[in-house]
Amino acid sequence: MHNIAIFASGTGSNARKIIEYFKTSPDARVALVVSNKKDAGVLDIAKEHGIPTRIISRSMFYETEEVLEILRDKNIDLIVLAGFLWLIPEYLVSSYRRRMVNIHPALLPRHGGKGMYGMHVHEAVKAAGDSETGITIHFVNEHYDEGDFVFQKRCAVDPADTPTDIARKVLALEHRYFPEVIARLVTSLPSTTPA
Ligand code: GAR
Repeated sequence: MHNIAIFASGTGSNARKIIEYFKTSPDARVALVVSNKKDAGVLDIAKEHGIPTRIISRSMFYETEEVLEILRDKNIDLIVLAGFLWLIPEYLVSSYRRRMVNIHPALLPRHGGKGMYGMHVHEAVKAAGDSETGITIHFVNEHYDEGDFVFQKRCAVDPADTPTDIARKVLALEHRYFPEVIARLVTSLPSTTPA
């Protein structure tokens, strides 16, 4: 059995899809949800499904390696960033190199980097007049929205689309593909926990 940890700061609609997808999987389970916001919707979703949660503070995340102990305690094989907005510190990147993925709501390297999240990204796509956008799932390194790509999927942007229309199309792609891509990745890793 492989263990997945989801890190999320917000609503958690991707986290919900991932949790539901793995609920019946014989290969992997979501074993932990970590959030930096104590009122994040994702925490309610985790509790609904009986998944342990941890709330982290900025000082704990950047000044200690306590998160690493929590992850090791739960035998976490893969970390999934699903709308997690803090930069990942070096100790965590190096411990989970090529075992941590992020989803970004655009076709990186376009519209990535610090401050580019959520609606800011879709507004930038609209302002640039792009005729397409999409999603990028990539390994996490020490920089925002860099790291080798694992998967991209495109969708068309119509000239009449508002940023909200673009957001809706992109979120649909995320929900459709993110769980499957995670499943492929996690089962390719050596497992740390017997079934
Ligand atoms: C997702 O669209 C994800 O791509 C984005 O945050 C949203 C979280 O939605 N992440 C970023 O913008 C990271 N730069 P959710 O909480 O409903 O899953």
